[in-house]
Amino acid sequence: MGRAGGRRGMTAVVGSCWISLPAWCGPLPALLLALLVAGSCEGNSVERKIYIPLNKTAPCVRLLNATHQIGCQSSISGDTGVIHVVEKEEDLNWVLADGPHPPYMILLDGNLFNGKVMQQLKGTSRVSGLAVSVAKPSPPQGFSPGLKCPNDGFGVYSKDYGPQYAHCNRTVWNPVGSGLSYEDFDFPIFLLEDANETQVIKQCYQDHNVPTDGSGPEYPLCAMQLFSHMHAVTSTVTCMRRNSIQNTFSINPETVCDPLLDYNVWSTLHPINASEKVDPKKEFIMVATRIDSHSFFWNIAPGAESAVSSFVTHLAAAEALHKASDVHLLQRNIMFTFFQGETFDYIGSSRMVYDMEKDKFPLRLENIHSFVELNQVFCFLYLFLQVALRNGSILWMHTDPVSRLNATVEPQVKNLLDILSNSSVGANVTLQEVGFSQPLPPSSFQRFLRARHIPGVVLSDHQASFQNRYYQSMYDTPENIQMQYPEGLSPEETLEYVTDTAKSLAEVATVVARALYRLAGGANDTSAIQADPKTITQMLYGFLIKMNNSWFQSIIKPDLKGILGDEVPQHYVAVSSPVNTTYLVQYVLANLTGTVVNLTKEECLNPEKTPNAEKEMYDYAWVQGSLDPNSTSRVPYCVRSTVRLSKALSPAFELREWGSTEYSTWTESRWKEIRARIFLVASKELEIITLVVGIAILVLSLIATHFINAKADVLFSIPRDPGAVSY
Ligand SMILES: *[C@@H]1O[C@H](CO)[C@@H](O)[C@H](O)[C@H]1NC(C)=O
Ligand SMILES: *[C@@H]1O[C@H](CO)[C@@H](O)[C@H](O)[C@H]1NC(C)=O
Ligand SMILES: *[C@@H]1O[C@H](CO)[C@@H](O)[C@H](O)[C@H]1NC(C)=O
Ligand SMILES: *[C@@H]1O[C@H](CO)[C@@H](O)[C@H](O)[C@H]1NC(C)=O
Ligand SMILES: *[C@@H]1O[C@H](CO)[C@@H](O)[C@H](O)[C@H]1NC(C)=O
Ligand SMILES: *[C@@H]1O[C@H](CO)[C@@H](O)[C@H](O)[C@H]1NC(C)=O
Ligand SMILES: *[C@@H]1O[C@H](CO)[C@@H](O)[C@H](O)[C@H]1NC(C)=O
Ligand SMILES: *[C@@H]1O[C@H](CO)[C@@H](O)[C@H](O)[C@H]1NC(C)=O
Ligand SMILES: *[C@@H]1O[C@H](CO)[C@@H](O)[C@H](O)[C@H]1NC(C)=O
Ligand SMILES: *[C@@H]1O[C@H](CO)[C@@H](O)[C@H](O)[C@H]1NC(C)=O
Ligand SMILES: *[C@@H]1O[C@H](CO)[C@@H](O)[C@H](O)[C@H]1NC(C)=O
Ligand SMILES: *[C@@H]1O[C@H](CO)[C@@H](O)[C@H](O)[C@H]1NC(C)=O
Repeated sequence: MGRAGGRRGMTAVVGSCWISLPAWCGPLPALLLALLVAGSCEGNSVERKIYIPLNKTAPCVRLLNATHQIGCQSSISGDTGVIHVVEKEEDLNWVLADGPHPPYMILLDGNLFNGKVMQQLKGTSRVSGLAVSVAKPSPPQGFSPGLKCPNDGFGVYSKDYGPQYAHCNRTVWNPVGSGLSYEDFDFPIFLLEDANETQVIKQCYQDHNVPTDGSGPEYPLCAMQLFSHMHAVTSTVTCMRRNSIQNTFSINPETVCDPLLDYNVWSTLHPINASEKVDPKKEFIMVATRIDSHSFFWNIAPGAESAVSSFVTHLAAAEALHKASDVHLLQRNIMFTFFQGETFDYIGSSRMVYDMEKDKFPLRLENIHSFVELNQVFCFLYLFLQVALRNGSILWMHTDPVSRLNATVEPQVKNLLDILSNSSVGANVTLQEVGFSQPLPPSSFQRFLRARHIPGVVLSDHQASFQNRYYQSMYDTPENIQMQYPEGLSPEETLEYVTDTAKSLAEVATVVARALYRLAGGANDTSAIQADPKTITQMLYGFLIKMNNSWFQSIIKPDLKGILGDEVPQHYVAVSSPVNTTYLVQYVLANLTGTVVNLTKEECLNPEKTPNAEKEMYDYAWVQGSLDPNSTSRVPYCVRSTVRLSKALSPAFELREWGSTEYSTWTESRWKEIRARIFLVASKELEIITLVVGIAILVLSLIATHFINAKADVLFSIPRDPGAVSY
């Protein structure tokens, strides 16, 4: 298990005045021990050791790719250190040089959680771990632990395809990116999610650890222990090989890492037969967005701007199109696609391309007429309108300059751009083309371009570098997209309250829906196609604030109600799937684009036995329905839609190419326990004395037991009972 246990750490927890005695010690040594211990404790005002568990934390865990491990871990028995609060950079001196009680556990202010400070902490052995508090308000200078050039090497640009654009040579997409998420730390790092718990720790520090005029504080000191030991080491190649050896030779196999995987959600405007290949002559407009996000900490991924605003806009556009009266007459079909795991080198889109190429998907790449991707489409119209800054309402159209050099592709791209910009005429949001010489931003579309010259466009709110200052961080929250509610609303009122953000996104969705209608061959007036701000506001509430709301409850299957939690929704792709986000995107899409059909529960759950159900064309879901106003019972019903899931597991694992540079190889390590706690620790000398005494007594008692055992027949001789049966 590699470096497990090799980490520095205090032995402070071992040995103390209240060692519990093993039962086999017997009464005599126990008495002896009790006397001794009482003696050694006398005169020391050591308080009872009380552990306070920290209940609201998120750890940084280890992820692995083909060649590296990233993230954090503790030693196998957890890492311990004396707490030191660091709120200004000067406070670091105590930890790094002056403090007399290393190693230290640092309680780091969120504003100092940056590359510079972390490099200093990495370079010292005086730090045993880190607890980071959330900065409130979010750091104004921006914060992104992601890379400056996200998903580099897995997009389309490489030495063979537009080498001048590879490695973000032309545009650095995420300039504030510190890359912290992609570094390897050999000490544990936890996020303190609850300000009240942070306060408890600070109080303990203030009461016990504050240095008094230059000299160090007196024992007992307030200490923290963090457990986040990881089973996997080195790389995906190593850990997957280990998994497979274990599975082959061990009766009780123990997996050390799991590939990141989930499901993509997709549906079509016109139903298609999912159990056969669609006609090669059928054309599809593919609309895509990602639904996952990431941050430095495990399962902390609010992704408000980086994922939610775009997929919500996409869902609203799908609804608007389905509601239009003449869409069944459109000559081209439209496919709505929601990719999972895109953060980790395009897991979802690379798998779909792979499946299409290998004929494992109803569509082939040749069926894709054109591609429209929504990628960070948050533009806040209302704010800008108020200050009369019209250019705040521009949505940028990004295209691939390399494929546009092809004389067949260029006119198709031009046509696509014209249709899109015409659709925004008269709307408050304007679509504008970025310069021809700029490559595509990191996007799922790049994976399709790798396979085939498909005409396509990526819509985003940034012309060059991201506008989002909190890309893939814990600060990409509803506040980051200006979501504001008036005070004093009930949860139900909040769900329905139409925010300005929702109004802005509705205008974007309207423009997109109208453009899609045109792209699919629609010639009629599009003014009737209109996205609904009310559904958008409900989606934003559900995906960003609280999943457990009346709308989400009414549209999911009864056996899935456990996925609706009261905590803040997170959009991290996981290893046990589908995750909450995937299910909810699936059922929201079914609700917005499906129809309620008059089937009984029995018929709905077994469409293959139901006449005229066309099981291959539709998906049927028996959903909970909403609560009757005056009772506690729900009225369930059957929803028919074209929504389906497709696997989002990187082809690298399908092909068992764990060292792949073509496909994502990210895996997540397994762990036994993740835990954090604080307690008071006595002085080292005292603990060592207690430990030595404890060991001495143990040896004594062993000798005594041995002696008593050996002479048992003499000591405890029982008079023979003449009547007893003898053998
Ligand atoms: C990077 O871009 C510059 C122009 O912006 C170009 O001169 C240079 O050759 C490019 N680098 C590579 C490695 O292509
Ligand atoms: C694995 O991740 C590390 C850290 O981000 C990166 O430097 C390396 O290039 C990645 N390896 C592959 C094969 O992508
Ligand atoms: C934190 O403490 C305050 C005051 O005691 C309390 O009002 C608040 O609800 C607590 N917050 C949480 C998240 O527990
Ligand atoms: C965590 O929960 C336990 C049990 O409910 C409680 O005793 C403890 O004080 C909590 N921790 C903090 C830091 O509030
Ligand atoms: C544009 O914004 C204005 C001001 O909020 C609003 O009144 C108008 O309806 C919007 N126009 C469109 C086409 O949505
Ligand atoms: C241009 O694209 C078409 C369609 O993708 C392809 O068949 C053709 O070979 C490409 N032409 C060149 C010169 O690359
Ligand atoms: C457009 O409107 C005409 C006349 O109302 C109708 O015949 C046609 O089916 C409509 N739909 C499309 C897609 O053009
Ligand atoms: C996600 O689902 C799990 C159960 O699968 C549930 O415990 C958790 O609360 C859910 N999370 C949210 C944010 O609703
Ligand atoms: C969608 O949800 C709403 C609110 O629960 C409900 O009234 C409507 O019938 C649902 N539509 C479908 C197609 O499920
Ligand atoms: C639904 O079906 C049942 C029996 O199949 C029928 O009695 C009922 O009238 C139907 N309801 C509607 C609204 O069509
Ligand atoms: C769908 O395709 C399968 C396989 O080709 C075929 O057996 C089935 O009848 C088709 N279903 C419909 C509704 O066309
Ligand atoms: C619910 O209860 C209220 C007051 O008891 C009554 O006025 C209302 O009609 C009831 N609604 C339904 C749908 O039964």
